[in-house]
Amino acid sequence: MTQEWDPETYSEHARFVSDLGAPVADLLEPKTGERVLDIGCGDGALTERFRRAGCQVVAIDTSPEQVWAALERGLDARIIDATELAFDAEFDAVFSNAVLHWIPDVDLVIERVYSALRPGGRFVAEFGGAGCVASIRESFTAALGERGVDGASVDPWYFPTAEEYRARLEARGFSIDSLQLFPRPTPLPGDVSHWLEVFAQPFLGGVPADDRPALLQDVRSRLEPRIRNADGVWVVDYVRLRFAATRPAEA
Ligand code: BEZ
Repeated sequence: MTQEWDPETYSEHARFVSDLGAPVADLLEPKTGERVLDIGCGDGALTERFRRAGCQVVAIDTSPEQVWAALERGLDARIIDATELAFDAEFDAVFSNAVLHWIPDVDLVIERVYSALRPGGRFVAEFGGAGCVASIRESFTAALGERGVDGASVDPWYFPTAEEYRARLEARGFSIDSLQLFPRPTPLPGDVSHWLEVFAQPFLGGVPADDRPALLQDVRSRLEPRIRNADGVWVVDYVRLRFAATRPAEA
């Protein structure tokens, strides 16, 4: 089962993703007139910050529904997979928030971003790092295991350590300006079942459709003692990997 994004559901249950992405957008330090590529723009809520800063922005996403929502904001949004980027040295900066952990072809994306940047251009991004949503991964693995399904076979996420990702960027020739892995416990606006329905579709696809409500309930029960606090708020154990890197200027 592939992950799908519905702009309305996303806006209702996952607006915190773009709200909490503001610091990484600031890290890019957008300047008037710069050309910026936003990888995985979603509905374009964060992309708009670059446009407001006077940048010319190209926003890409694989979800037609999200691209449509971004177009409705008046953005130059396009349906393009990050592994199929074909830009050649035409951006001053490439940005991405909360997307790179969904793409298994890690080195290919780094390669395409490098090619899309002009020499001296910057790559600024944040995504899930080692240990991210461990409580959720472990709960799915246990619940699926009891159903005879190997959780790893449907796990969609890539959460690298800081050392691993630094090495991959450097191997392509990026120079690292900053790179940190840090915990960011994230309170949810509602019940964790909404989060699971929005973000964990590949795990739910591990069982037949008629078993999905029971799987969801099972995972929720396993999570409750771990990530629901005394006030009843669900606080997800996000870990972020945030970096700024530069394609070196040609000598
Ligand atoms: C994120 O947006 O950072 C995220 C989404 C799904 C799983 C883990 C992290």
